[in-house]
Amino acid sequence: MINWVRRTATVAGWPDAHVHHEEFLAPQPGKPFAVRLAKSGLSLEVGEDESLLEAIERLGVDPPYLCRGGACGQCETDVLESDGTFIHRDHWLEDGEKSSGKKIMPCVSRFDGKILVLDR
Ligand code: FES
Repeated sequence: MINWVRRTATVAGWPDAHVHHEEFLAPQPGKPFAVRLAKSGLSLEVGEDESLLEAIERLGVDPPYLCRGGACGQCETDVLESDGTFIHRDHWLEDGEKSSGKKIMPCVSRFDGKILVLDR
């Protein structure tokens, strides 16, 4: 339904910047992965049934968030180092940002690799 609304708005000539939406979903499961938070000096393992955002919160770090659905942009996080593949599930980052490997949306996106260092 959200995709239909977005397509209809585009066909009607609405600028993309004027069309906003939010999704409220449980985190999609995935392979566990390890993360290091550079500013906090903490390391963590993201379990298969939790989001990266939830794993960060579990450690007591209080990252910004709003929708928890990959749409609002509040949780956008800089990637300092990585050696794997990002599984971007958000609707916030542009394609170029996703392919750059320099940004991740922890509320919905995951990582498949050995090293992921975030600016948190
Ligand atoms: S909390 Fe909204 S995009 Fe992550």
